[in-house]
Amino acid sequence: MKKIIITIDGWSSCGKSTLAKQLAKALNYLYVDSGAMYRAITLYFLRNHIDWTDKKEVHNALKDISLEFIYNPKSERSEIYLNEENVEYVIRDMVVAEKVSDVAAIKEVREYAVKQQQKMGKNRGIVMDGRDIGTVVFPDAELKIFMTADNAVRVERRFQELYEKNPNITIEEVKNNLELRDYIDSHREVSPLHQAEDAIVLDNTNLTEKEQFHKALKLAHKHIEQY
Ligand code: DC
Repeated sequence: MKKIIITIDGWSSCGKSTLAKQLAKALNYLYVDSGAMYRAITLYFLRNHIDWTDKKEVHNALKDISLEFIYNPKSERSEIYLNEENVEYVIRDMVVAEKVSDVAAIKEVREYAVKQQQKMGKNRGIVMDGRDIGTVVFPDAELKIFMTADNAVRVERRFQELYEKNPNITIEEVKNNLELRDYIDSHREVSPLHQAEDAIVLDNTNLTEKEQFHKALKLAHKHIEQY
């Protein structure tokens, strides 16, 4: 059977990665969380006190960064490695979340990440989620999904996720971070978040995870047959 490229773009905390992971598993495709790459780069910049407003510093720092996804059978997902260190969990911290949109808006950073993402998809058979996957990374993808959900629902979901790790976190903090990230992601100069013209919108405000998955899987099968 022919393999296709499936892109899942949308706002922060819409459940993109949950869906992408499930689809990849069902289709036996590779799953790539492109946001993890921007988060890992941000973590490197923070740890090494890189001044990311300085083009030259960014350019040199990127040369020292190697990113890799390695499948972990325990978590049943590919996890990201930054210079051979598994950073899958530490990149989810608020410290990184607060800065990642600024770092992801840097042209050099995006060029670096997009190049690697396109390489990963060269044999198709991939599900990648992010903000510019259907518009910039794989404009020729066979199936493009644009995910959305009501703001309040997104904040609540994200809060539950973070609260498990950090009971001191407040809903206000989560709401502010989410709104700010959405704003920066959709207003930046380079590859802002917007819906691809040929994307199918999936609003999951009132959908369970299972319902959303079945809808998307049906779409995937339809597009694989048509391909
Ligand atoms: O999906 P996420 O929340 O892990 O993404 C982290 C940040 O990276 C988010 O603020 C937007 C940015 N991002 C991006 O600009 N382009 C992508 N393809 C993926 C993520």
